Amino acid sequence: MTKKPYYITTPIYYPSANLHIGHTYCTVNTDALARYKRLTGYDVYFLTGADEHGQKIERKAEAAGVTPQKYVDDIVEGFHRLWALLDISHDGFVRTTDDYHIACVQKVFKKLYEKGDIYKSSYKGMYCTPCESFWTETQLKESGGVCPDCGRPVEEVEEESYFLRVSKYAPRLIEYINEHPEFIQPASRAKEMLNNFLLPGLEDLCVSRSTFKWGVPVDFDDKHVIYVWFDAVLNYLSKLGYLSDDDEKFQKYWPADVHIVGKEIVRFHTIVWPIMLMALDLPLPKQVYGHGWLVLNGRKMGKSFGNVVDPVKLVERYGVDAIRYFLLSEFTFGQDGNFDNETLITRINSDLANDLGNLLSRTVAMIEKYFGGEVPAPVCPVPEEDDPVITAAKALAGKIEAAMNAIHPNEALGEIFRLIRISNKYIDVTAPWILAKDEAKRGRLGTVLYNLAESLRIVGVALQPFLTRTSPKLFAQLGIKDEALQSFASIADFGALSAGTRVEKGEALFPRIDLKKELEYLESLLPKPEEEKPAEEKPAEEKPAEPEKLPEISYDDFAKLDLRLAKVVACEEVRKSKKLLKCTLDLAGEERTVLSGIKNWYSPADLVGKTVVVVANLAPRVMAGIESRGMILCASDEGDVHLSALTTMSEMESGLKVR
Ligand code: MSP
Repeated sequence: MTKKPYYITTPIYYPSANLHIGHTYCTVNTDALARYKRLTGYDVYFLTGADEHGQKIERKAEAAGVTPQKYVDDIVEGFHRLWALLDISHDGFVRTTDDYHIACVQKVFKKLYEKGDIYKSSYKGMYCTPCESFWTETQLKESGGVCPDCGRPVEEVEEESYFLRVSKYAPRLIEYINEHPEFIQPASRAKEMLNNFLLPGLEDLCVSRSTFKWGVPVDFDDKHVIYVWFDAVLNYLSKLGYLSDDDEKFQKYWPADVHIVGKEIVRFHTIVWPIMLMALDLPLPKQVYGHGWLVLNGRKMGKSFGNVVDPVKLVERYGVDAIRYFLLSEFTFGQDGNFDNETLITRINSDLANDLGNLLSRTVAMIEKYFGGEVPAPVCPVPEEDDPVITAAKALAGKIEAAMNAIHPNEALGEIFRLIRISNKYIDVTAPWILAKDEAKRGRLGTVLYNLAESLRIVGVALQPFLTRTSPKLFAQLGIKDEALQSFASIADFGALSAGTRVEKGEALFPRIDLKKELEYLESLLPKPEEEKPAEEKPAEEKPAEPEKLPEISYDDFAKLDLRLAKVVACEEVRKSKKLLKCTLDLAGEERTVLSGIKNWYSPADLVGKTVVVVANLAPRVMAGIESRGMILCASDEGDVHLSALTTMSEMESGLKVR
C-alpha cells in the first residue's frame, strides 16, 4: 500500500548569526511532528534550511570583511552541526544560494511578470532592514514609529521597483481564509491577519530591490535583486523541484500539510505566500501554524539584545533528550513562553529523573529481585487497582493523535507523562514490597509488575518522536527486541508484552542534577564582568597623561576607524556604576548596547531620540557586567567640567558613515 504523503516545513533561518534556543524550539517541535507522522505510517518530507540573501547579511559580511557567500557558508555549517546534535530528522535542507533555488525564483518572477501580476513602478516607504519588511504609515502610527515586529527603528527607502499585484488577489484570499478555518492556526492569528492586514486593504508589494546586490538577480533586469521574502518562501517549492526537469517531489508533496512558523512571520506565510501561489495557479498549503516565542525575562531573544541562550552548551551539559524534553513539554506551542534556568533543571529532575527514571529502575529492580529478571504473567487482576493504568495506556494513542494533529506536541507529551505518573501511583497503591512478603500473593505481585512493565513499554513506544535517545535505552532495560512491540501500532495493544521477557538493569536514564550548582553554571554562561576595573573608574592618577599633540597619522590610519551616526533608542543608568549610562543605539537597523561614562552630564531622557557619533568598530568591552560594543564620541574640556556628545547639524539617518 502506498503511504500517504505528508509535507512539513520549518522557516528557513537567517544565517546572520548562530542559531539560539528560540530557533531550536521551532525545529525540535517540527521534528517531533515529522517523526510522529513517519511512525504512524506517512511518507514524510520534512524540510528546513537557510535564508541567505538580503541587505542585513550583506552588511554583516561587509562588517566582518568577508564575501556574503563566505559569511553564510560558515554560519550554515553551524546549522548542520546543531541539527545533527539535536537528532533533527529533516529530509531536505534548502539554501537560498543553491542553484536550483535561484533558478526557480527567477522562473517564478518572470512567469508572474509575463502574466502581468508583477509590474514595474517606483516606491518610497519605511523599511526595517533586520526584518526585511516595508511598513505603511498606519502600521507605524500604531507602533509608535518603530518596526511593529521587532521594535527597531525603520528607515526611508526610495527605489524604482517591481511590484506584486497583491491587491488583485486579496478578496479571493479573504474568502479563502473565511472558508478554511483550519488554514491559519491558532485561530486567533487568522483574526489578526484579517483585521490588521487584509480587511483594512492591501497595497501592492514591492518585490525587488536595487539598493544592494546580495540577492537573486531579476534575470531580465539585472539592476534589481528579488525581495528576500519573495525569494525565501519559494524554498518550499524549489526544493521539491518545482519548474525544474525533475519535479517528482513537487507532484508528490505539494501542497504542504503544514508550515510551522513563528508568530511574527505568519503574515508573510498567510498573505504574501498564498497570493504568490494563487498567481501561480497552485494550491495553497493546508495549514500555517504560528507558534509563540521563547522569551527571556519578557524580551524576545536576539543576538543584538545580548540575551541569547546557546543550545549547544545546554545539550553538551544535559544531553539531547533533556533539552528536547524541555523544549517540547514546557511551553504551550501557540503561545509565548519564558525560558528559565531553574524551570529547566527542575523539570529534568522531577519529570525525567524522578517520574520516568525511577519508574523504570524500580520496575526492573523488582522484576529482578522477585522474579529472577523474567517478566511475570498477569494472572491475578484486581480491576479497581489495575484499571487506571490499563485505561490510561489504552487511551494514550488516541490522545497523542488528537494533540499532534492539532499541532500541540506539549499536550501529547503531557499525556505520556500522565501515564507515567499514574503508573508511579500504582506502585504506591499496590505496594509490591508488601505483596512480596506473602507467598499467597505471588500471583498478584506478578500481575502488578507485568502491568508496570507493559505500561513502560507503551511509554517507550510513545516517546519515540519526542525523546530520540531514551526509547532505545528503555527497550533495552525491558528486554524488548521485537520490532512489532516497538511500533506505534502496538501502543493501543495493552498486553502484547510476553511473559518471560528478560529484563536487564542499566544505567539511570537521567541522573539527578544539583540545582544550586547548575544554576551557578548557567549563570556563568552569561557575559562575565571584567576582572579589572574599567579604566574610566580607575583612580585619576592611574590614567595615562594625554600628550598635548598626537603624532601625525596617515589617511589609512584614520580610515581604520568606523565612525557612524547612531540614534539613541533607549537609555538607562547602570546601577552598579557611578558614571555609566547604558545606551541602546540604532545603527541602520542594527541594535547595539554602548556604555558611556557620561552620567554626570546627561540623564537618560536627555539622550533618547538624539543622533550621536559612535566608533562602531571598537573591540567589545565588558564594564559593570555589561558588554559595550562601541564608544560615543564627546568633546570635553580640561578636567571634564563641560562635556557634550557630538551630533549632526541637520537630521541625518542612523548608520551613515562619518568621514
Ligand atoms: N528567514 C526568515 C524566515 C523565512 S521562511 C520562508 C526568518 N528567519 S529568522 O531566522 O529570523 O527566524 C526564523 C524563525 O525562528 C521564525 O519563525 C522566528 O519566529 C523563530 N524564532 C526566532 N527567535 C525565536 C524565539 N526566541 N522563540 C521562538 N521562535 C523564534 O524570519
